[in-house]
Amino acid sequence: MFQKMIQQVEKILPALEQELKAVKTTSALEQVRVKYLGKKGVLTNVLRNLGKLTAKEKPLVGRLANETKTKIVEILQAKEQELKLSEARTRIEKEDLDISLPGCGPEIGHRHPISQVLEQIKAIFVSMGFDVVEGPDIESDYNNFEALNIPPDHPAREMQDTFYVNGTMLLRTHTSPVQIRTMQARKPPLAIIAPGKVYRRDADISHSPMFHQVEGFMVDKQISLGDLKGVLEVFMREMFGPDTAMRFRPSFFPFTEPSAELDIRCVMCMGEGCRVCKQSGWLEIVGAGMIHPVVFRNVGYNPDEYSGFAFGMGVERIAMLKYRINDIRLFFENDLRFLRQF
Ligand code: DAH
Repeated sequence: MFQKMIQQVEKILPALEQELKAVKTTSALEQVRVKYLGKKGVLTNVLRNLGKLTAKEKPLVGRLANETKTKIVEILQAKEQELKLSEARTRIEKEDLDISLPGCGPEIGHRHPISQVLEQIKAIFVSMGFDVVEGPDIESDYNNFEALNIPPDHPAREMQDTFYVNGTMLLRTHTSPVQIRTMQARKPPLAIIAPGKVYRRDADISHSPMFHQVEGFMVDKQISLGDLKGVLEVFMREMFGPDTAMRFRPSFFPFTEPSAELDIRCVMCMGEGCRVCKQSGWLEIVGAGMIHPVVFRNVGYNPDEYSGFAFGMGVERIAMLKYRINDIRLFFENDLRFLRQF
């Protein structure tokens, strides 16, 4: 019995070494560990017969068994280390990560077409000596209508046309109230442009409830319609090219007298007549005129001493003509396929 047990224990380590050759994963290794060291494992099995040995034989087999157990633990630990390392290596190799490849950089955005056109409009007027001034989107009824000589029964004052915030405040329907604010705060000479958002209850292919305008005005002694014409001519040629043809048509605005509208030759058909210019060959692009004496009086300027011109233009309309876009809503849908073209 003693000899047999000694032989059994001595066979364990070679058997383990042999078995480990086939082990390729840490989970297979765990099974081997259970097989050799577990409660029903090889070593426990041998030691079950320890009781049948003599008092002299017992410690001998016991010592050999303990030494063998320590050895098994060592061998298994070494194997585990080895497997973990090679598992990590194959995982890294599989990941196929080449850190020497150039990365794919973040996509770079650009300014919205409306912002680009606004920047261009500002740059042209700044080059002519105009100052850029901004006013608030939420405006008083007084600045938006009353001070601009727009009578109480004017249709623009109806709830259907204007977004009211409360009884006296509203979302400005045009940038003209910046004329009032600026003239109240400064004395002539003034050469100002006021770009910004405006709001109207209106939405279709050519109207958006929010859009952008640029207001312009110049006030000094002896400013004339000729100055207005010269400034707008320079602007249109810069914006639409040196051959841009223009015409002034008489018009009406409550805050200017006389009033005019500036047309440019249709950029789509070059004056031949098309759908965009409604076969007229001309495009309405700017409302303008000489600032009304009532407006001057409302801001405390003496209309006998000062004169001035004012104009207002829609930024989306200019962008649509410049880039040949037929639907204003495209600007505000944030479809990158559209925006990327600018
Ligand atoms: N405020 C006008 C509008 O929104 C545009 C306009 C017309 C502005 C004539 C002016 C002007 O300064 O003189 O329809």
